[in-house]
Amino acid sequence: MVANVLEVNPERLWESLERSAEIGRFRDVGLRRLALSAEDKQMRDLFVEWAKTAGCTVEIDRLGNIFARRPGTDPSLPPVAIGSHLDTQICGGRYDGILGVLCGLEVVRTLNDRGLQTRRGIEVICWTNEEGARFNPPMMGSMAFAGVLPLESVLATTDDAGITVEQALDEIGYAGPAPVGRTFDAYLELHIEQAPVLDREGCDVGIVVGGYKTQALRLTINGDTGHAGGTPMAQRRNALVGAGYVIAAVNDIGLAFAADEGRTTTTRIESFPNLAGTYAEQVKLTIDFRHIDADRFKAMRAEVDAAIAAAAKKANVEIEVAEGWSWGSELFAPECIELLKSTAKELGLPYREMRSQAGHDAYAVATMAPTAMIFTPCFEGISHNVNEAIELTRSVPGANLLLNAAVTRANR
Ligand code: GLV
Ligand code: MN
Ligand code: MN
Ligand code: MN
Repeated sequence: MVANVLEVNPERLWESLERSAEIGRFRDVGLRRLALSAEDKQMRDLFVEWAKTAGCTVEIDRLGNIFARRPGTDPSLPPVAIGSHLDTQICGGRYDGILGVLCGLEVVRTLNDRGLQTRRGIEVICWTNEEGARFNPPMMGSMAFAGVLPLESVLATTDDAGITVEQALDEIGYAGPAPVGRTFDAYLELHIEQAPVLDREGCDVGIVVGGYKTQALRLTINGDTGHAGGTPMAQRRNALVGAGYVIAAVNDIGLAFAADEGRTTTTRIESFPNLAGTYAEQVKLTIDFRHIDADRFKAMRAEVDAAIAAAAKKANVEIEVAEGWSWGSELFAPECIELLKSTAKELGLPYREMRSQAGHDAYAVATMAPTAMIFTPCFEGISHNVNEAIELTRSVPGANLLLNAAVTRANR
């Protein structure tokens, strides 16, 4: 261990997490804090209050992204940014996203405790709508910020009730005046792993070197509709039957690619008219598939396309396929990965290098600033589930890595 190692305050981190878990509580232990909802506003307000109390200046851009800055001694230098998200899934857990934000705040609070200045400022960011649960696609705030998605199309995106992102931002008072886009010296994001590797291996720190190539497809399956009793079986063009074939085939493809960690999922289904006594005229499905390797990803895609065509034929329906959101499997910046590794070594922290199967705001920011991520274990990898759980003692090493790496970079 080096002499000037900094340590976060675990009790304070835990208290803040517990306080945040009261906002949007769902099914006793989980959270429903949908992007730009009243609960999201409440959590944002609390974060802003905490950040201001910690001496940060707070700016909000037109996308509702929140930037809380602890100034550095040289204001002409771009800051080191640390971020994640406050929103959750509909049946979400207490740590997905907010752990990274609160560890960022803990960096600021720890520096304050110690009366330490950094040369560059440190900016803690809450990205709008990482989850994509209310407004799709996911990672909307960071993607539009980084110019990966067009700003105007993001603002015009609607939820199921027809409310636009722009209206929802106005509604909660988070359509800010700050210009979209700013410069970071580096970006670091801490997140629970959302997979079981760290937990099972008993390792507390993952240094994330990149993600999985990921593609969502939006399928519209068109058949016809009619009586569930009267219509002869051979005459039906039941869109739900087409959907069933697709769902089963997509899952089989995931199983066939499981040995090298391929993933396929049907995530969403909508059926019309969705009535007992009537077979379905139209079904909309969202599927996604992920692979670490570009060639294997292509092979998966070919199998998915073939399975869709076969399902359409077998169910005598038409299936339209639209490309949904996607992200690549590029590696994060070597300089940031190296910073995390060397800092972990200085702190005497065992770590594991890994890739993330999940999407993160860091992928968007990586297109505009040197970026890397830290993973911390969550119980059995359970996430997007109210039973998501962490052990504080297994989260603190990652938080300390974030703290010391951010300070090293900020003093550069
Ligand atoms: C989003 O975070 C995803 O991984 O689906
Ligand atoms: Mn997340
Ligand atoms: Mn999530
Ligand atoms: Mn996510």
